[in-house]
Amino acid sequence: MVFLLKFSLFCSVNLLKHYIQYRIKAKGRHGIHSPFIYTFLNECLTTKVDKNFLSSRKKMNYQLKKNESKIEINDFGAGSKRLNNTRKIKEIYKISSSKGKYSLLLYKLAHYYHPKNILEFGTSLGIGTFHLASGNNSGKVTTVEACENTLNEAKRNFTNFKIKNVTAVHSTFDAFLSSSQNRSFDLVYIDGHHDGKALLVYLEKLKPLTHNDTIFILDDIRWSDSMYSAWTTLINDPYYHVSLDFFRMGIILPRKQQVKEHFTIRL
Ligand SMILES: C[S@@+](CC[C@H](N)C(=O)[O-])C[C@H]1O[C@@H](n2cnc3c(N)ncnc32)[C@H](O)[C@@H]1O
Repeated sequence: MVFLLKFSLFCSVNLLKHYIQYRIKAKGRHGIHSPFIYTFLNECLTTKVDKNFLSSRKKMNYQLKKNESKIEINDFGAGSKRLNNTRKIKEIYKISSSKGKYSLLLYKLAHYYHPKNILEFGTSLGIGTFHLASGNNSGKVTTVEACENTLNEAKRNFTNFKIKNVTAVHSTFDAFLSSSQNRSFDLVYIDGHHDGKALLVYLEKLKPLTHNDTIFILDDIRWSDSMYSAWTTLINDPYYHVSLDFFRMGIILPRKQQVKEHFTIRL
């Protein structure tokens, strides 16, 4: 018990240190000269969010926040730091679902760049999927989740909220990658497993399934030392010319036409 308390205090202090460093480096919309990043900040991030979408989003969040029903979870990732294997939907929502400005970033990216084919690794209750699919109704979202019971909850949400442009795949990320030749994704959101080494392997395997302008969104880059170390490797990797640090999320793009540059941005 004492060890656990010390460990969680250490994690909080470590995260606070990261946050202070991030805020010192973070730029607003001024002082950025790259045209791609300038339009990203001034147009994509200022995208108006549809009112009907916002009211469905409020309703979905409310329903999940109040949902007392329990499901058996099979955790294929590095595992939640806080939950047992039988979990209430409201607990899964609280700990694992995308929320606030980070979930709106998903909507805005899908809305502004119109990615035709979107891939999400880690569906959970389908909140991230809902934002990506609603941001671009004409795009197709493939979302991959290894826990069947969780995926069934997500599917229920897609039906209830009339989200039609989603294919929900019951699979591990590895098995999906092995069976997905000849596909091409314009936007990839990786939000599962949370192990730095695994993240680097997935990104390597995704290279033949993506292209120069694919937007890779990586969640929880500061979730653990291993995730942050993978993030540091990626921002130094010559394959990705653009990297954007939003503290919790990171975005990387190959964009060979652009001089390699890293940006720390305030959302
Ligand atoms: C943080 S949650 C995803 C949250 C969701 N993307 C959102 O925006 O609300 C991570 C999910 O990834 C799934 N997952 C973790 N590792 C996986 C793996 N190797 N293969 C498939 N699913 C995995 C977990 O079961 C969990 O439901």
